[in-house]
Amino acid sequence: MAEEKPKGAGAATEEAPGENLVQVTFLPEGKTIQFEHGKLHYEHHGKEQSLLDVALNYDLTLDHACGGNCACTTCHIWVKEGAECLSPMDDDEADRLDMAADLQLNSRLGCQAAIVKPGKVVVEIPAWNRNYVSEEHH
Ligand code: FES
Repeated sequence: MAEEKPKGAGAATEEAPGENLVQVTFLPEGKTIQFEHGKLHYEHHGKEQSLLDVALNYDLTLDHACGGNCACTTCHIWVKEGAECLSPMDDDEADRLDMAADLQLNSRLGCQAAIVKPGKVVVEIPAWNRNYVSEEHH
């Protein structure tokens, strides 16, 4: 994978994406993508720069049965790192998540959790979600 060298001196670490960069790692695949904050093409899946929209921009599989309208739980993901880069959860999302399987403290809906500032985010897509998706036409 190509690594971009930051401007100026200093050793680059994988932990620190550049100034205005968003870096998202999707587990368990371990695929990491990087883009400039606010510059990603909006695919209209959920909120702008939502994790669902990010995933679909990069052809990553994340189910979205309701089309990103906070009306299902198929885009359920767990945020492992970088929750501070995401939009706060609103009541609709919290209510919807109550119905999700494998609910954890770090659960979010991929279509509702939008990246609101640059940084590093790591999310995990539950295995049952991925299996379900592979049979879906999307
Ligand atoms: S796609 Fe249905 S709630 Fe996110």
